[in-house]
Amino acid sequence: MSENLKRHIEAISSETLNGENYSRSDFARSILNYPAMMVPSVQEPIIEALSYALNKNVSLMDPFMGASNTLVTGMKYGMNVFGQDINPLSILLSQVKTSFYQKEELIDADKRVISTINGDNSDVIEISFINIDKWFTKDIQAELSKIYRAIRREQNLKIRKFFWVVLAETIRLTSNDRTSTFKMHMRPIEEINSRQISAIKTFTSVSKKNIKNISDYISVLIQSGHIKKEKYVKNIDVVWGDTNSEIKTKKTFNLLVTSPPYGDNQTTVTYGQFSYLPLQWIPVEDIDDSIAIDYLKTAQSIDNKSLGGQVKESINEIEERVFEKSKTLKKFVTQFKDNERKKAEKVTRFINDLDNSIDKMLPRMRKDSFLVWTIGNRNVNKQVVQNDLILKELFTHKGVSLFTDLEREILSKRMPGRNNFSNTMSKEKIIIFKKTN
Ligand SMILES: C[S@@+](CC[C@H](N)C(=O)[O-])C[C@H]1O[C@@H](n2cnc3c(N)ncnc32)[C@H](O)[C@@H]1O
Repeated sequence: MSENLKRHIEAISSETLNGENYSRSDFARSILNYPAMMVPSVQEPIIEALSYALNKNVSLMDPFMGASNTLVTGMKYGMNVFGQDINPLSILLSQVKTSFYQKEELIDADKRVISTINGDNSDVIEISFINIDKWFTKDIQAELSKIYRAIRREQNLKIRKFFWVVLAETIRLTSNDRTSTFKMHMRPIEEINSRQISAIKTFTSVSKKNIKNISDYISVLIQSGHIKKEKYVKNIDVVWGDTNSEIKTKKTFNLLVTSPPYGDNQTTVTYGQFSYLPLQWIPVEDIDDSIAIDYLKTAQSIDNKSLGGQVKESINEIEERVFEKSKTLKKFVTQFKDNERKKAEKVTRFINDLDNSIDKMLPRMRKDSFLVWTIGNRNVNKQVVQNDLILKELFTHKGVSLFTDLEREILSKRMPGRNNFSNTMSKEKIIIFKKTN
């Protein structure tokens, strides 16, 4: 049975793995353009095969949930799903993507919110933070404030969450920050001055698009019998937490599917910086009251708390411990001296945190569970950090064996989300481990 499963997974076509047949809107993927999203149709055949192997009785965890595309794909197969992330924007987005909404209730709420916005003559700016005038023109601030007030008037929290996500995407599209990079980088002044953009118009069209995407996804769940009495039939947990410290549940799982960061957020994908402007406009009490970081303090706050972001221990102690687990990492780091060595130390810190996070996950994984990791390599000091090999070595050291692995091309034109940072490679590995004890 194990051999059949392996053959089945290894036979998944390269077109599927490369995401050539994917649709941008599959599974509400496009409701907010979160960085480095997985493409559901790439993961789906693997998740489907493992669902059968686990007798369709699956509890799925993603400890680096991001835009929750893994959870959403798991829900299509009727799984219990649990996701955790350190970024409050990931939590909000995932709450919305895993909630049940009636199309009619969203259409009614949309009409109400738009009419409140249009009837609002106030020019009070609702939000203030350092450099707000750098990141938003006064006109956009006034428009966003009208939208903010209209959303706050909504009584139902689930409905407010839906519109906060619409507002987040509106902010991404109408702020002075460039959309071409996840780091905060202002557009040229001439462009800002000549740009014809309206936050209210953008909000109106994003809202309509999101209503369609969410309703389409919910109809898929209804058709497959996973929604009964307006409720998903299995459990859904979306949790704010630092995976490097703990997995915030007592539950256990037989499937883990994740795509972790490739390196520390400051030098790879700055998920936190990407989220900084939208989060200024979304009240924390409408996201989750367990969030325990002061994420609005600086644009770096979230990224500094993410994997590889904190300097807690001396590098010598870390090296001693991690080099023993990964010869590939040791070989990579020790080839450098001086400044280059300093840069490579960030890789060691990141891998140490990743290793530590895996130690938090494994006790939650049952005997005979599968762990599916999508990870790519990256360049540091013009040399390749072989994240895939390093990950395999970390798991081997913990006594968890490789089941099989697959490779996929990242087609940059079609998947700007994954390839928008220049120092990563054009290929990713999907590595599947099996925990047998
Ligand atoms: C590649 S993304 C996940 C993408 C996701 N699989 C998807 O399909 O959208 C990696 C995620 O790891 C999160 N992350 C980084 N460090 C973390 C930590 N210490 N604890 C929890 N999440 C963390 C980031 O916020 C980011 O959302």
